[in-house]
Amino acid sequence: MTVSILSGDCRDLLRTLPDESVHCIVTSPPYWGLRDYGVAGQIGLESTVDIWVNEMVEVFRECRRVLRDDGTLWLNLGDSYAGNRSAAWGPPSESSTLVGNGHLGGGPKLKSMTDSRRRDNAKCPRSDVRVAGLKPKDMVGQPWRVAFALQADGWWLRSEIIWFKLNPMPESVIDRPTRSHETIFLLSKSARYYFDGGAIAEPASPNTHARYAQNGGPVPTSGWADGDGPHDAVAHSRGRRKHGTDAEARNRGRIKATASFAAGTREMLETRNTRTVWPLVAEPFREAHFATFPTEIPRRCILAGCPEGGTVLDPFGGAGTTGLVADRLQRDAILIELNPVYAEMARCRIQGDAPLFVEVADAV
Ligand SMILES: C[S@@+](CC[C@H](N)C(=O)[O-])C[C@H]1O[C@@H](n2cnc3c(N)ncnc32)[C@H](O)[C@@H]1O
Repeated sequence: MTVSILSGDCRDLLRTLPDESVHCIVTSPPYWGLRDYGVAGQIGLESTVDIWVNEMVEVFRECRRVLRDDGTLWLNLGDSYAGNRSAAWGPPSESSTLVGNGHLGGGPKLKSMTDSRRRDNAKCPRSDVRVAGLKPKDMVGQPWRVAFALQADGWWLRSEIIWFKLNPMPESVIDRPTRSHETIFLLSKSARYYFDGGAIAEPASPNTHARYAQNGGPVPTSGWADGDGPHDAVAHSRGRRKHGTDAEARNRGRIKATASFAAGTREMLETRNTRTVWPLVAEPFREAHFATFPTEIPRRCILAGCPEGGTVLDPFGGAGTTGLVADRLQRDAILIELNPVYAEMARCRIQGDAPLFVEVADAV
């Protein structure tokens, strides 16, 4: 498989990629006001959340051109809180330290930015900044601001998946719960799109078999398509045959809820359509990139969103987690990363993972 690592600004490099050339996009962009990635031109340090949202819309509009018509975007975003004062500069947070809710916490906080980097990001004002329309301590709602803006720009917003962090960073707050999740949006370019639900089906709960046995078979609660009618995904044949959706399972029961049918569907009932809450443990990454997501996130997104032999794009490649996982799953990948140090880190990490098989095509 080939992992291409392009080092530069994704707003420039995306334009070099052909129309409809990737099957699926899996990415975690810089969240607004959370972290300094140490390079001029980085996204995330805009002076207002609205400017950041606009940047996101423009980046993902170009991604949409590059995505096949039946492709999907899996977008991981976290949130933060408005503060009553800014830190050294830039967007405010609930506390004076702009810690927010990064993937792993740790890492350089914005206030640790060096003077030269501050100059690079001079567009971020140093004076007190309030988020328009938000009061101090208000949750910014970053993920949903982007989701609604992308929806308005033409994307289909199909699912909100919660990455439930089993080992969240502690927070020193006493007037709200500790935040222990981030959001992964599933968006599509068209109403019908490739989605292999079977590849990421989860084990059915132990109660399922007992409940079905007691009821003499599955009981339908609605018509044939319990999904979203014409917006249903083009289910990958393997997933549909072996696993099926919840609605299909119920409707099979309505057609023929006999003992032999129940026996025949037993294997099918061992799994169920994946749920929208994914409990995952954050994986520590020792090198100097502090915002990597756990490999299980791109693993699920790629299995469901990209056929074997297809191509996955990550326009905010970071330390290369999406590329690493794509290669393990026999998919090609294109990563774009602005910071050349991170791009090199990604190259070493991916080649170290599969030195005999992966061809890393640097286009730095
Ligand atoms: C949240 S991190 C991505 C981490 C990645 N998912 C991983 O697991 O390693 C966001 C990345 O976007 C990069 N970045 C920021 N602005 C960028 C831009 N304009 N073009 C490309 N990459 C950018 C940052 O340097 C950072 O590495």
